[in-house]
This record gives sequence, C-alpha cells and structure tokens, in this order.
Amino acid sequence: MAKKPSFSCNDCGNITSKWSGRCEACGAWNSIVEDAGLSTSGPAKAGLGTVRGRAVQLTNLSTEEAPPPRTNSGLDELDRVLGGGLVPASATLVGGDPGIGKSTLLLQAAAEFAKSGLKTIYVSGEEASAQVRMRAQRLGLTDAPVQLAAETNLRDILTTLEIEKPQLAIIDSIQTMWSDSIGSAPGSVAQVRAAAHELTSFAKRQGMAVILVGHVTKDGQIAGPRVVEHMVDTVLYFEGERGHQFRILRAVKNRFGPSDEIGVFEMTGAGLAQVTNPSALFLSERGTPSPGSVVFAGVEGTRPVLVELQALVAPSPHSQPRRTVVGWDGGRLAMILAVLEARVGIPFTGLDVYLNVAGGMKITEPAADLAVAAALLSAREDAALPAETVVFGEISLSGALRPAPQTEIRLKEAQKLGFTCALAPAGGKGVNVRRITLNQMSDLTAFVGDVFGAG
Ligand code: TYD
Ligand code: MG
Repeated sequence: MAKKPSFSCNDCGNITSKWSGRCEACGAWNSIVEDAGLSTSGPAKAGLGTVRGRAVQLTNLSTEEAPPPRTNSGLDELDRVLGGGLVPASATLVGGDPGIGKSTLLLQAAAEFAKSGLKTIYVSGEEASAQVRMRAQRLGLTDAPVQLAAETNLRDILTTLEIEKPQLAIIDSIQTMWSDSIGSAPGSVAQVRAAAHELTSFAKRQGMAVILVGHVTKDGQIAGPRVVEHMVDTVLYFEGERGHQFRILRAVKNRFGPSDEIGVFEMTGAGLAQVTNPSALFLSERGTPSPGSVVFAGVEGTRPVLVELQALVAPSPHSQPRRTVVGWDGGRLAMILAVLEARVGIPFTGLDVYLNVAGGMKITEPAADLAVAAALLSAREDAALPAETVVFGEISLSGALRPAPQTEIRLKEAQKLGFTCALAPAGGKGVNVRRITLNQMSDLTAFVGDVFGAG
C-alpha cells in the first residue's frame, strides 16, 4: 500500500495530511512542505499483523546499573549543571538569546574538556574559523587542543565526525546546519528537526557526546515549537539581562541529574568567569536599607542565592495602573496584589506597581511570594524593613503562609552574609541556625501587623 504523504509547516512545525498555500495553524503563506520520512499515519496502514516484527528483549527494573562515567570540564559551575560532568554519548542543548554568551561559554568549555583529555571538535556554523580563533585568543585558549571547523553542511560534518571519531562535538548553532535532503531553508523547523535528529542519533550510535547550541526565538522557544528539546538528554538555558554582566546557566531538563540546578557566571573582558558566591555578587550593589527593598533568601537547585527585590509604588496617572515586572512572573505579582487586597485589606487600586529583581536574575520559586509582598508593602508604606533581614515563604490564595523547602540552607546562607533576622512562614521542620533570629508567622495579616505595625 502506498504511504500517505504528510506535510508540515516550516514556520510552526504543524503537521497536516494535505498541502495548502497557507498554514492553518500559524497563518504563514507558502510554508507547507512535504515531509520526507515522517508520516502521521503510523504503521497501522502498513499491514501490521501480516508482517511480524521481532520480539524485543524485556528486562525488569531491578537490574543494577552503574552510574554513567563523567568527564569534568574543570568549570565547576558547568559541571554541576550537567549533573556532575559530561556523560559520554549524551546529547545536550544549550539555548539562549542571541548575544548572551553561548559561543563564549562553549568555546571555554571545549577548551577545558579538550585539556582534560576528551577529543573535542568545535563546529561553528555562524563564524569563520578566523573569528573563532580570534575569540580563543581573547580568552587565552589558543593552547587548548580543540579542533575547529567552520561548516554548515550536515552531511560533510557527519562524515568528518565519522572519520575523526571525537568524544565530544559542539555544534554552534543548530539553526545554521542544513541537510541537502530537505528542501527548506536553514533555520526552518524541518531543517532544525532533521539536523538535531541526525546529530543526536549519530552521537548515540558512535558513543560521542554532542552539545547543540540553539538560539531562542522571540517567543522563548528554540527554533519555533521546541523541536529539539525532546530529542536531547539535557536542556540548559543560558540567561541574563543584556545590561548586566551576570549570566545564569539553568538546567530545565536533565536525564542525568537534577533539573533545577543553576551555574552562575560573570561576563568579563576576558570571557566568562565563574561566580562561586552568587549571593555576595547579587547583593554587592545594595545600599542602606530603603523602602521597597527586600532581600529574598532563595534556593536554586542545591544552591542558596540571596537576591534583592526592589518595588516601587506610586500614584498612577492612568485609568489602568501599570504593573511592570522584571525577573519575576507578572501573573504571580497580580495574585499577590489580589491577596493583599482581599485578605489583608490593603488595596493597590490607583497605584502603579513596579517590581525588579536586582542583578538581572530571574526567580521562579514560589517561596519569593512573601519577599515580594514585603517589598510591595514596604514601598507602599514608605517604610524600610529592619536592616539585615531576609524574607522567604509561599503565600496561598487564602492569605495563609506556607513553609518553604530547604529553610536551613536559606538561613545558613543569610547568616554567612551577615544577616541576623529572617521572616518566614510558621510550620515546617524546626531549624536553628546560630546568630539568626527566625521570626515565623502563619498568615499574611499577622506578617503585615508584625512587620509594618498595621493590619
Ligand atoms: P557570544 O558568545 O558571541 O554570544 P552568543 O553565542 O550567545 O550569540 O557573546 C557575545 C557577547 O559577549 C558580545 O556582545 C561580546 C561579549 N563578550 C565579552 O564581553 N567578553 C568576551 O571575552 C567575549 C568573548 C565576548
Ligand atoms: Mg554564538
């Protein structure tokens, strides 16, 4: 029986069974192409039942598996995010905004891996070899035994890798690779999907580790609809604000380690420097305690990170007051404002609200709720929090405070940086950290009464 053709959109990746001039899903014109190997119809139509496959071997779950061997890059911040070093034959995607420092990070990593004995090939599809060498010079890495190629043709790259047999290949970037068996332009979903698939399956087959660089597109996904993420073992995002020198490498998926780990770097004139004590760095610009400024004791993965939250609340000239957030979730801010109004009776109507996480850090932890509420209230009341105080805890819609995980780690970090008081939810495991007074409250009303002397 002839295979039914299938079509996909080059812009959004939507798969359809018939060709049309305009994609139904995203509305793009002339973006529908026939898929070479893919079929949505599956094997059912191929006559299952008449042609039998071979029986696959089944095992049980109790079989002992040794942990995978790892190679350390020597960059602790990277090794930790990878789950303790690079795993052989693994596929890793490093995503991030253009210009954030992915090529810099990976060239530095390539040099370190190569120095520690891994045969490493760095394929640049974006820059000429001379440009990469210039960067290496600037980074002081010219001695590292990394082999370099400037190429975008996937077939040639695979052939080279097959002959050279490296243990690690870095592909910078996956959007520039193109396969001549696919008709669409480089960077299109079909090309990126094919290139990532070819490279990752080659890596698994040959026992080579591969690191793919991917640019995040405007809506925050790599190459449109996350076409690569599911094919790789590990997905790391390299984030930061353009105007700030801090960069965070964040694991969002890791088959070989925890997925919420972060590594912190600083972009300097000579490349990326590791930041071993991020809290000290994030708090370095903090002046004397002022209204609207609160230090949040956060935890990212296994790592405590203290950051300053800054809020500004001012009468609004607009009929729709502004709500502007940098580094935190706008929806979550709206929730905290609603809880403050409904449960504690403190309205923000007619007031513009700005919230900023200092240093260009992005916070995702719900435990930041209470610190945000404290910053908003402090700004609104124009009253600074007591000096040397950290705040953490989740707020529920009822106004109750929920204990945050890993209280002890947070307190120890705060103590290390000279803080003497912590405001946190009641409950949870009892912890006692020297030289820190832990002030616990069970709901937001009690918190407001306690800290701002009102309710
Ligand atoms: P790059 O690694 O090219 O970003 P990406 O690959 O993510 O697009 O880094 C780009 C920026 O980093 C560029 O604006 C210059 C800056 N940079 C430094 O500040 N110091 C350095 O040593 C290097 C190599 C780059
Ligand atoms: Mg680059």
